[in-house]
Amino acid sequence: MRQAGRYMAEYRVLREHHSLLDICRTPELATEVTLQPVRRLNVDAAILFSDLLLPLDPMGIRFDFVRGEGPAIENPLRTEDDLARIRDFEPREALGHVLETIQQVQQTLNGRVPLIGFAGAPFTLASYAIEGGHSANFAHTKSLMYGHPQAWHRFADRVAGLIADYLQAQIEAGVQAVQVFDSWVGTLNAADYREFVQPHSRRIFDALKDSGVPTIHFGTGTGELLHEMREAGGDVIGADWRIPLDEAWERIGLDRAIQGNLDPTLLLGPPDRFLAGADAVLAKAGGRPGHIFNLGHGILPMTPVDHVQLLVRYVHQYPLN
Ligand code: CP3
Repeated sequence: MRQAGRYMAEYRVLREHHSLLDICRTPELATEVTLQPVRRLNVDAAILFSDLLLPLDPMGIRFDFVRGEGPAIENPLRTEDDLARIRDFEPREALGHVLETIQQVQQTLNGRVPLIGFAGAPFTLASYAIEGGHSANFAHTKSLMYGHPQAWHRFADRVAGLIADYLQAQIEAGVQAVQVFDSWVGTLNAADYREFVQPHSRRIFDALKDSGVPTIHFGTGTGELLHEMREAGGDVIGADWRIPLDEAWERIGLDRAIQGNLDPTLLLGPPDRFLAGADAVLAKAGGRPGHIFNLGHGILPMTPVDHVQLLVRYVHQYPLN
């Protein structure tokens, strides 16, 4: 879960000389950052270093990352016409540098751990394109969605097709699993999820059914949506820390795998506290196969690296029965 980044000194050193987008768009640099957590933490998988927003640019939606403020979209989509104006793109051309990174990472990893690719789900990607950046209430997104449902569905369906193709291209380039981030979908209730989101997210998972790699479907604040997310698709469903893991797994269904769900802010506290948190997560998983231990969301920049190392060691030595 965003295992590379500013909490690591070796990442901060690279960021002194390169912007986040430079790193994402330069295969040598993105490869190096992808491997940093594998070396430093001994985690069980590498996560492709990239960003969820990269596909916006070839859709004709320009953006940048502003220091201390996060993503900033130049001209957010605010009308029906704006939604209709996005461009289609061929990921093998427009995002060829991402595919090149995948190949370089795989050459360097040489089978040591698997590599996970990822992309944003239509709702979460749309929320950035429409809000223009971070949002507390997703007012612009919901206003377009509720006010112009047909335009929303046409737009979300096109985004789903483009993202499915992008993930397919990542799989062809060599990733061994893909994660679909619907980070902000927890802002919706189950009925609206079913109406406005589920058909589009389902299109992505349906397209990847025969791809031969497992799919992970993740969101935050999704306690009341886990059943609906399962129905949209994903061999693994991610859950955040707001819901106990066993309850989340019941809602998802025990025939699917689950990923989660330690609160990443626990890592800011003392070891006895976060290791007790890890114990609680592992106890609720009950040693059942199909649990991927993970944080419930991204790691925070202030996190001490030695806490993360300790956590990984602790989970690795946890007795499974
Ligand atoms: O785990 C990894 O090593 C892969 C790295 C990764 C990044 N972005 C790099 C990044 C991943 C998996 C993402 C996905 C992503 N990007 C998501 C979905 C994941 C989630 O957390 O829900 C989202 C919503 C984004 C959009 C995004 N990118 C935001 C909101 C921000 C600003 C956050 C902040 O802390 O400032 C980013 C910037 C970003 N993407 C950073 C990293 C490492 C911050 C570091 C930097 O500025 O150098």
